[in-house]
Amino acid sequence: MGEYLRVWGGRPLFGRVRIPAAKNSVLPLLAASMLSDGETILTEVPDLADVRQSLAIFKALQGSYQWQGNRLKLKPGSEMNAGVLPADAARAMRSSVFYLAPALHRFGRVQTPMPGGCKLGPRPIDIHLEGLSQMGAKVEWQGEELVVTAPRGLHGMDYALRLPSVGATETLLMAAVRAKGETILRGVAREPEIVDLANYLIQCGAVIEGAGSPVIRVRGQKQLHGAEYTPIPDRITAATLAAAVASACGHVTLEHCSPELLVPELLVLEQAGCGIQRKEDSILVERSRPLKGVGRIYTGVYPGFSTDAAPVIAAALLTANGRSAIEDTVFENRFACARGFTEMGANAVRAGRAVEIQGVRNLVGATTQGTDLRGGAALVVAALAAKEQSNIYGVEHIRRGYKDLPSTLQTLGANIKLCNDEQTELEVTEG
Ligand code: EPZ
Repeated sequence: MGEYLRVWGGRPLFGRVRIPAAKNSVLPLLAASMLSDGETILTEVPDLADVRQSLAIFKALQGSYQWQGNRLKLKPGSEMNAGVLPADAARAMRSSVFYLAPALHRFGRVQTPMPGGCKLGPRPIDIHLEGLSQMGAKVEWQGEELVVTAPRGLHGMDYALRLPSVGATETLLMAAVRAKGETILRGVAREPEIVDLANYLIQCGAVIEGAGSPVIRVRGQKQLHGAEYTPIPDRITAATLAAAVASACGHVTLEHCSPELLVPELLVLEQAGCGIQRKEDSILVERSRPLKGVGRIYTGVYPGFSTDAAPVIAAALLTANGRSAIEDTVFENRFACARGFTEMGANAVRAGRAVEIQGVRNLVGATTQGTDLRGGAALVVAALAAKEQSNIYGVEHIRRGYKDLPSTLQTLGANIKLCNDEQTELEVTEG
């Protein structure tokens, strides 16, 4: 069984936390740095498991990198190579897909197994591949390996995405900035992480208009130079910590994060009865009284309620008086964590893509298992409300997206420790 988080809930959270750079910005930015011939420095980069996996791919593609504290210096290699992504790292996360376009531009060829990632339901990459082939790439499967080639480079296109896929928008934006001619991408995703990627590429000399709107226009450049860039803060980490306060009571200031990045999520917590004070670059979240149910919430593409925040917000509503429901319109299997909620005594029933909650007075401690990144975090959020001990397995999922969630919660007053079946209790020294 191995590592688990031992949480003894019922303690309110107090203090301040600086929100780190966004995982879902840093990961495309790492791959995008291969589009430039110069050196890129990313600052405030959290040392996450997925970041390490991405750097393994970056290195396998001849890139070199150096950590200087949380500044990450990246230099693409100059030698040509076959653009083969290491299978283990590629299968370990969805974000290996971001190397398709940069490797294609750099080597004229890229080869990878199907990307991995949280088991949230089918996660095809057909839009990524259809867009690349419309830009002149040849796409074929050789057994389990995807091989994409573009010996004569990529050319621009006018292309409408069949749905606003975040990753496909990022792949096609990265393909377009070095393609010959103009590219128009219609029906794109509008997440802040897309704008962040575009801002980085513009700083590298790319010509991009419309990022954050439904239509992005790009004029391809022969070359791009390096840049020093600070990614935006992680709005899902912020939503997770806000949900933790909503679950455990207390008051916590989330620093270095604009409330504009998580508007719907904060509104739902406010509707449930939390106090939210919004400042330009910080958010004070407070809960001192019982919460109330919020009715039915639907997730959606940005600027809608984030699918990634749905599990942790659901966890905070398990003891709210009355009914709540969250339906995920993005993924089929977003609420695998509902089983863990039930083991903690919650009345949380999965119905299709939704979780239907009838608040209960108290949660109980349980031994349970997270099976994906945000679901694992949601079990921790729920355990903070149970005035008993819970043991939460699946720490490896949580590490993919949170640098040190246990130690962050511990500094806010939570009784949480990283333990191991084989050893005695380990102090939380993540990282
Ligand atoms: C990104 O995943 C995020 N990951 C996810 O965060 C996030 O949940 C998701 O966007 C939605 O916001 C990263 O940025 C690394 P999509 P991505 O392509 O790009 C379908 C987390 O917890 N689709 O917008 O994979 C797909 O099946 C992770 O941090 C196709 O059909 O999401 C899904 O149903 C989890 N064909 C829907 O679109 C495609 O070619 C949305 O997927 C691509 C996607």
